[in-house]
Amino acid sequence: MSTYENILVETRGEVGLITLNRPKALNALNNATMLEVVAAAEAFDADPAIGCLVLTGSAKAFAAGADIKEMADRSSVDMDAADWFAGWDGLTRVRKPLVAAVAGYALGGGCELAMMCDLIVAADTAKFGQPEINLGVITGMGGSQRLTRAVGKAKAMDMMLTGRMIDAEEAERSGLVSRVVPADELLDRAIDVATLIASRSQVASRAAKEAVNTAFSTTLEQGVLHERRLFHALFGSEDQKEGMAAFVEKREPTFRHR
Ligand code: CAA
Repeated sequence: MSTYENILVETRGEVGLITLNRPKALNALNNATMLEVVAAAEAFDADPAIGCLVLTGSAKAFAAGADIKEMADRSSVDMDAADWFAGWDGLTRVRKPLVAAVAGYALGGGCELAMMCDLIVAADTAKFGQPEINLGVITGMGGSQRLTRAVGKAKAMDMMLTGRMIDAEEAERSGLVSRVVPADELLDRAIDVATLIASRSQVASRAAKEAVNTAFSTTLEQGVLHERRLFHALFGSEDQKEGMAAFVEKREPTFRHR
């Protein structure tokens, strides 16, 4: 495994765990961190022994945003030439499920990063916000799009225009997070979810992720058609035969493609 400076990378059974590790900057997301997170996620995506990924931060901060100090003096031409933040798109091309385990601050780019993941498990200490408006800018890692799709216009406008933070309970109520758990259980609970996901057929979980994501990028008619084609294609997999045979034979399935 490569050595990283801004993240910790380990495996827990079939789960690949990436921990943001810039504690002095509350895991502010600088360019180097972006490159490392995407590289680590791609490596896990390519590893057949891994079935699901977890991305987490510290108890105080999942991530307090993009690194303001790294951006502050740049011109718009600099930002455009570097295509600032475009590298994060690599994370959205990871095909294995990606679980965000969020405690403490998930602000700005931190909230946007959590939303790039497939589901968010939040500690009861989690705080989500898009405070870019306080800095004279707006989201740049997809927040205005993913937040609006997740929580709807009313809440997204509120968060984007006022910069106010919402707590874990409001985030769950709004549909931003999947589950809220006690802070001291966060990582264990996120790993449990990821382990369960990893125990299923990877062929099927890739299809499930692709199908849900399609709902965000196409019409209902096209999305339903795409889902049906994926569903039909899964009948070519050994795991479909095993899963359905195991049900009929009243036993646990042993999926081959894990
Ligand atoms: N970028 C760079 N450094 C950051 C940072 C960030 N986003 N967030 C925190 N830090 C640094 C602080 O500068 C501080 O460093 P020093 O000790 O060297 O001064 C250190 O982390 C600890 O932070 P605080 O002392 O501020 O900690 P706190 O507990 O008093 O406050 C906080 C915590 C409320 C999260 C506060 O740090 C804060 O408001 N951070 C900025 C939040 C923000 O505006 N995020 C959006 C960034 S822009 C963005 O993300 C653009 C985009 O679209 C992607």
